[in-house]
Amino acid sequence: TRARLTLDPAFRIAPVEPRLFGSFVEHMGRCVYTGIFEPGHPSADADGFRADVLELVRELGVTLVRYPGGNFVSNYRWEDGVGPVDQRPTTLDLAWRSIEDNTFGLNEFMAWAAKAGVEPMMAVNLGTRGVAEALRLVEYATYPGGTRLAELRRAHGVDKPHDIRLWCLGNELDGPWQMGHKTAGEYGRLAAETARALKRFDPSLALVACGSSNSTIPTFGAWEAEVLEETYDLVDYISLHAYYDPSDGDVDSFLASAADMEHMIRSIAATADHVAARLRSRKRIKLSFDEWNVWYQSRFGGESSLEWARHPRLIEDCYDVTDAVVVGSLLITLLRNCDRVGVACQAQLANVIAPIMTEPGGPAWRQTVFHPFALTARHARGQVLRVEPDSPTIPTAKYGEAPVVDATATHDPDSGELALFVVNRDRRGPCALEVTLPRGLTPVQHLELADADPSARNTATDPYRVTPRPGSGLTFQDGAATLTLPPTSWTLVRFA
Ligand code: AHR
Repeated sequence: TRARLTLDPAFRIAPVEPRLFGSFVEHMGRCVYTGIFEPGHPSADADGFRADVLELVRELGVTLVRYPGGNFVSNYRWEDGVGPVDQRPTTLDLAWRSIEDNTFGLNEFMAWAAKAGVEPMMAVNLGTRGVAEALRLVEYATYPGGTRLAELRRAHGVDKPHDIRLWCLGNELDGPWQMGHKTAGEYGRLAAETARALKRFDPSLALVACGSSNSTIPTFGAWEAEVLEETYDLVDYISLHAYYDPSDGDVDSFLASAADMEHMIRSIAATADHVAARLRSRKRIKLSFDEWNVWYQSRFGGESSLEWARHPRLIEDCYDVTDAVVVGSLLITLLRNCDRVGVACQAQLANVIAPIMTEPGGPAWRQTVFHPFALTARHARGQVLRVEPDSPTIPTAKYGEAPVVDATATHDPDSGELALFVVNRDRRGPCALEVTLPRGLTPVQHLELADADPSARNTATDPYRVTPRPGSGLTFQDGAATLTLPPTSWTLVRFA
């Protein structure tokens, strides 16, 4: 098969939004404990943070991290996680039926975020708690001093206020599995009241209202409309969450999962704009895609199947090449929509459906999905370009005819560099891609993630089984390049 596309720096969508390369640390399974935090690990620093993991986080190019949940936050008392560690209580996390010893909390997270060089995105509990507790948390965390809560923080050893600009007003409160699950009307009112109070405290805070947990939940679209009717003038973002897997063995649909992400983005942008029209508002709500990834949910028996345990191994999916291609194409979709999506977080960062895996007391390594994320975060610079591939299609059961080739590109006006990110979703064969580009640019790097065995994975004992390798078969003459995209592959080509 054959596909074509044109790269033209004149056709810009928007500047690359650095907050698209976010991730997520939830108190779930081993994301925090024995993931990013493991006092006593050979690589642990004085704070108990794993230096091997910190190094991989930097290599991954993560810009922002959402914390502390997730379902966990909806029954969390942030007060349990601050103050002298030996006085912190052991509590039950009802979301994941886990025993939480609270040795890691807000101040540890902020210290870790500073070392990782990432922006924090903090969630408040609007499941089992409300306006007052959210206000107390924001005051404790961000007020300089002289009040009871600010002085409490200082007494806890954190003299300077934390700089936290982004706040999530709860998590997935549309979902019946959520502690404190609410109707859209109930949540909309609570989110509005909380937002009003937080903006009174600091009008410059950026607030994220909860949207739907997925695109198949019956209230998808209606939930956002009702929540935004209540909160429109008070919030800056509405959230979207999506997880994909080949649940029924339908790999062709799985490879085209970005079609669902695109549908969600367009639907929720349209819903928000509809509310704006009704309210006669010129303000535009941005989208925060603050949970997205491949997650083999079919292998997870659900929360009620869990036995109470202390940082158990939960949803530690081991990703293969196909999963990495899906992750690469989801990143392409996020970039293409960066005029509307202002935040995105791959869920999660370590061990729990994560690009980074660890063994307690042992090594840390990169999953297959690490690579498209790291390379996109590193090379997507400047402006996102409008790229319209002319591609053959493959029939999929879930999304109808899906383009074989999906692509986006960025152009950095400072360096003049063009970066092309492209996937071949065809499992059955390679695809030749003809690229038309401005004269004077030549290919400087061609990397691909592909394997004769698309189910190849990286493990603790074979951590480099799947890594990006130099691509072959690129022919070039001024203004035109042709390359062969291997079956089920993700490719980066840089021109300078
Ligand atoms: O990331 C795992 C879980 O998925 C989160 O806790 C929840 O928000 C979502 O359902």
